[in-house]
Amino acid sequence: MRPRCLTVMLTPMTTEHAPADLALRALAAHAEDIKPEHLRALFAEHPSRFEDFSLVAGDILLDFSKQRITPETLKLLHALAKARDVEGWRRRMCAGEAINHTENRAALHMALREPLNLPHAAHAPEITREVAQNLTRMWEFCTAVHSGNWHSHGSKAHMTDVVNLGIGGSDLGPRMAVRALAAYQQPDLRVHFVSNMDSADLAPLLARLNPRSTLFIVASKTFGTLETLSNARMARDWIESSLPASLTGKNREDAIARHFVAVSSNLPAAAAFGIPAEQVFAFRDWVGGRFSLWSSVGLSIALAVGFHNFEALLAGAHVMDEHFIHAPAPQNLPLTLALLDIWNVNFIGAASHGIFPYSQSLELFPAYLQQLEMESTGKSVDRQGKPLTLKSCPILWGSSGTNGQHSFFQLLHQGGQPIPCDFILLKHADFPLPGYENHAHLLANGLAQSAALAFGQTAEEARASGIGEDLLPYRTFPGNQPSTTLLLERLTPHTLGQLLALFEHKVFCQSVLWNVNAFDQWGVELGKQMAKRLLPCLNNDPAHRADTLDASTRGLLAALKK
Ligand code: F6P
Repeated sequence: MRPRCLTVMLTPMTTEHAPADLALRALAAHAEDIKPEHLRALFAEHPSRFEDFSLVAGDILLDFSKQRITPETLKLLHALAKARDVEGWRRRMCAGEAINHTENRAALHMALREPLNLPHAAHAPEITREVAQNLTRMWEFCTAVHSGNWHSHGSKAHMTDVVNLGIGGSDLGPRMAVRALAAYQQPDLRVHFVSNMDSADLAPLLARLNPRSTLFIVASKTFGTLETLSNARMARDWIESSLPASLTGKNREDAIARHFVAVSSNLPAAAAFGIPAEQVFAFRDWVGGRFSLWSSVGLSIALAVGFHNFEALLAGAHVMDEHFIHAPAPQNLPLTLALLDIWNVNFIGAASHGIFPYSQSLELFPAYLQQLEMESTGKSVDRQGKPLTLKSCPILWGSSGTNGQHSFFQLLHQGGQPIPCDFILLKHADFPLPGYENHAHLLANGLAQSAALAFGQTAEEARASGIGEDLLPYRTFPGNQPSTTLLLERLTPHTLGQLLALFEHKVFCQSVLWNVNAFDQWGVELGKQMAKRLLPCLNNDPAHRADTLDASTRGLLAALKK
């Protein structure tokens, strides 16, 4: 009898889920056949693996030939996609249905990057109109700042520094994009990001800046996030303390307001903070925080790299949207990436996933992806409110190559755990150094790592290369570590847009395949509520009794207060 696949726990079949259950069972059975296969053998048996297991969309080549799959695996995975009705869910998302059912919200981030001149906009005219209006306002503001026409009260000095105060989706996406597009940085304007309410984040930055020429973007969808509001208050006090005492009343308030704009979907809260309505850049609740860099949350990006480059980023994402919507399933990059993840997590037994951009400019990409993926699919309850029978999101981690090679790659090579990896390579350097071979070395290392992980080194090969018998056990590499390589021609706003939209859509497909809601994040709420309850205990508020707390928290509080 075939051994039962350990990573898949199927419930008794119900009629409602029968097609998906059947597809999962077929995959589980197939996984038992594949498990003993080594990538060496799979490559030897299938010489056209690269041609058969690589796809292109826009400027991205996806090579997934080093995944532990066969044509049969793909066929069965696509059967699962059909059974889960990925196409139907995609249609529902595009149509603006409230697919985020626990918050009764649509997920229309694609509308933010739809070209404004399309003869037949895919979204309702009022949405297209609103997106256009927001973009125009962002453009006007960027023009005012870049041209030096936005200055502080009673001064003609240019703004030299912009500080984005935000966290999670109001920080990670823009921070990553601004870092990635360093080659496009506007002259004479520095853009900084502060997210942590630990004053060690904002205070040292303020110590270096001049309040007369500093502008803050308070970026918060809800305008209720503790970290962002704490930092915004600190920034406000810093600006205020720099103003002359002679400036009072409304003049003083106006002078402070020159240094603040807000990006939010909560307009009353932004107004209550003292930011005038004309300096608030709105976005709707149908833009999820981790999908929001395309909205006015991208103001910091537009300021950093210029509005035309922000538009190129949007246009790049739209290229991927079109591909995602129209490409047939077997050629669909986001769907393929999602299916490979399902395969690795649920059938190969991977519990984590490494992301390795061989590009220093993309060094923040793994951190951005951690929120995008883990906040979206790190769930164990399905859309019907029932416990999942499949494991969902793996732990995502990673760093830029080659740095990772000199720290954790050892574990990938010889640690004995299946850890699928994504390698991202740029054909051309974004900061080329003529006369030096840095970029060729970088590419050679990226290619070498994925090959070494896949094929390893046998004892015979080690012996043949002169390794003595005593060191053989240490110098053999099991290989068979699956990876996907994404190759971009170069890193530009347009290709970055494609890359980010590719991963957004991958996450959406994964959520459908795992049958979870990708757009809520209830799991982060409990800790926030508990922190609120604990604060009075730390402040010795007599109305709050610590003796109702658990022994560990009580002990730690006591030690903190000693
Ligand atoms: O706590 C999680 C979260 O809600 C994220 O989903 C979100 O991106 C982040 O906080 C910041 O939220 P906001 O933009 O409302 O300040």
